Amino acid sequence: MSAERFHLAAPRHIAIIMDGNGRWAQQRFLPRAVGHHAGVKAVRDIVEYCAAEPTCDVLSLFAFSSENWNRPKIEVSILMRLFLTTLESEIDKLHNNNICLRFIGDRTAFDLALQQKMTEGEQKTKNNTALTLVIAANYGGRWDMTQACQHLAERVEAGELKSSDVNEAILNQHLCLADLPEPDLFIRTGGEQRVSNFMLWQLAYTELYFTPILWPDFNQSALQEAITSFKGRQRRFGHTGDQIAALATP
Ligand code: IPE
Ligand code: IPE
Ligand code: MG
Repeated sequence: MSAERFHLAAPRHIAIIMDGNGRWAQQRFLPRAVGHHAGVKAVRDIVEYCAAEPTCDVLSLFAFSSENWNRPKIEVSILMRLFLTTLESEIDKLHNNNICLRFIGDRTAFDLALQQKMTEGEQKTKNNTALTLVIAANYGGRWDMTQACQHLAERVEAGELKSSDVNEAILNQHLCLADLPEPDLFIRTGGEQRVSNFMLWQLAYTELYFTPILWPDFNQSALQEAITSFKGRQRRFGHTGDQIAALATP
């Protein structure tokens, strides 16, 4: 076994459920939309930190789940508008900061202008190397596994693959983040302790961190605290603690 896997000094991939925008606004007797706008500021702060941190290669942010369509129509439309205006104002800045932007999720449900902006952002930034910023939009872990299974079934139907060839590695190749490392650290703000259909497959061995801080209040020092907690943990991947300790001693 490779020692590196167990003794990562810092997380290479951080995945965050940015929760608590609505409550942040409600605590201030403001409309929920104000909380979503305040949440964009927190996104900038966290992206800036991760881009400057050489050990962090990937930051994944859950922006809109496949279940969030169930919200009141007005909130959904505010979120869609915010998504578009944020992309309009941020794509160039991301590009100038050498950040590669990627989206995961079923984008066909979005209106055409938004889909075009998403593609434009991905095209423009595709060769950037400081950080890969993954935005999960109309994303669900179950959707991801379902679309992967559909693609595999198509390949079996086409005779490219036998059903007995299907294994974890091949299924993984058809998932959204196949080419990126799995998340090392998962953070959920807002106090809820659940994964709400985020990266169900990829989180299998991710370290989980929950904080009551509402997303608009989450900042670089709060992220540092989460990273410090991560660094203090022992990842075992099914081995015993003694096996891992033996790997640490040269
Ligand atoms: C997260 O904040 C943002 C989205 C889901 C789009 P919420 O809007 O869920 O905020 P709370 O959980 O209601 O406070
Ligand atoms: C998860 O938050 C989705 C995003 C942050 C985009 P929710 O607020 O939608 O999750 P639940 O409904 O509390 O589980
Ligand atoms: Mg919420």
